[in-house]
Amino acid sequence: MKTVLNEIVPSKEEEKILKKAAEHFIKKLNAGLKNAKAILGGSVAKDTFLKGSYDIDIFVQFNKELYKNKDISEILHEKLKKVYKSAAKISGLHKIHGSRDYFQVIQDPFTFEVIPILKIKKADEAKNITDISPLHTYWVKKHGKSLRDEIRLAKAFCKANKLYGAESYIRGFSGYTLEILVIAHSSFNNLMKAASLWKSGMKIDVKKHGVKELNKSKISPLIVIDPVQQDRNTAAALSEKKFNEFIKLAKKFLHNPSTGYFTKEKFDLDKIKSAAILRVLPLKGKEDIVGAKLIKCMEYIHKKLREEEYEIQNHDWHWDNEAYFWYFVKNKNLPDKKKHYGPPIKESKHLQVFKKRYSHYPMKEDGARVYVELKRKHTNVNQFLNELIKKDSYIKEKVREIKIL
Ligand code: CTP
Ligand code: MG
Repeated sequence: MKTVLNEIVPSKEEEKILKKAAEHFIKKLNAGLKNAKAILGGSVAKDTFLKGSYDIDIFVQFNKELYKNKDISEILHEKLKKVYKSAAKISGLHKIHGSRDYFQVIQDPFTFEVIPILKIKKADEAKNITDISPLHTYWVKKHGKSLRDEIRLAKAFCKANKLYGAESYIRGFSGYTLEILVIAHSSFNNLMKAASLWKSGMKIDVKKHGVKELNKSKISPLIVIDPVQQDRNTAAALSEKKFNEFIKLAKKFLHNPSTGYFTKEKFDLDKIKSAAILRVLPLKGKEDIVGAKLIKCMEYIHKKLREEEYEIQNHDWHWDNEAYFWYFVKNKNLPDKKKHYGPPIKESKHLQVFKKRYSHYPMKEDGARVYVELKRKHTNVNQFLNELIKKDSYIKEKVREIKIL
């Protein structure tokens, strides 16, 4: 495990640089803030960030009584514009739309996420979910002090296996969920042991809050009760698929622990060259939304391929700057005729309509249904994809550019 830790724990030097940059940023912002205070948050505050990560979360806490009915996003925006108007190094101040708008300030190599919140003492005082984040930080710092590297192992394990992130296009484990899980089990290895026995419906309640009735939208295969907020399941976004993958990997890991579980396999086009591959330029905008559109587009194409009767053995995607979708197709060429099914024979009304519509084709029967044989426009998977991506408006709306490789 030691070699893994070398790869994922930031060096003292790296940590110092990151903290210094955060400190500088906070100081400058605080200089002109009244009744509000910028503080360090997220994984940099908790000391659970991974080596090579330059994302710094800054929360600007506004006094609750004074600002509860004010537009704190707008106030912070004006403030940031003032502070950074004169800064030479700034390459971007971006407003990001969310349940409460927040900001991204890019100062290469750092990305500051600056989030306006109300200062609260207890989770039930929150007006927006982000108000609670400093309470998470406080809890993790208090209970996870000796487990920071164990948490890093869990984060790296999930990252390497595409299980990290609660965003809708990933539906995996959020950083905070992993922090709670590691703390609940006292080490990464214990978490693996526990996870190898998980069944759908598993509940983790580290603070022994007692699991209250959660409303339906909060139920997922794994329920992790938020230690600072009894009615929240921090794993609500986790999909059945990612939950099962985690269990499977935990079993494999315990059987034969190796460093491979913590390093992402480098994306290599050569390894998938026998698949039908699409190269995609994503839209510009918030990662969450752009990612969700990419996933929808990939699944839509998958559905279209299957409807056309291509057998897809598996399909997947990769995304950094550009994205790739790939589909391993068993039958790359199809017969030039396609069975097009009509209604069941006993539904005479519908049958009439179908017969009329296809009156130029011989009607055939297959069990209880009729069908006609239509000529396919394309019999080859690449030709089919080519036409699909050129013409389909659903695809065009979801990506900036898409091409067959
Ligand atoms: N948060 C949360 N649930 C999520 C996403 C975020 O509760 N699904 C809160 C947590 O309090 C988290 C903070 O928002 O600490 C910042 O989010 P993020 O940057 O995504 O997580 P980090 O803990 O900073 O982890 P990472 O190292 O991935 O940045
Ligand atoms: Mg973060």
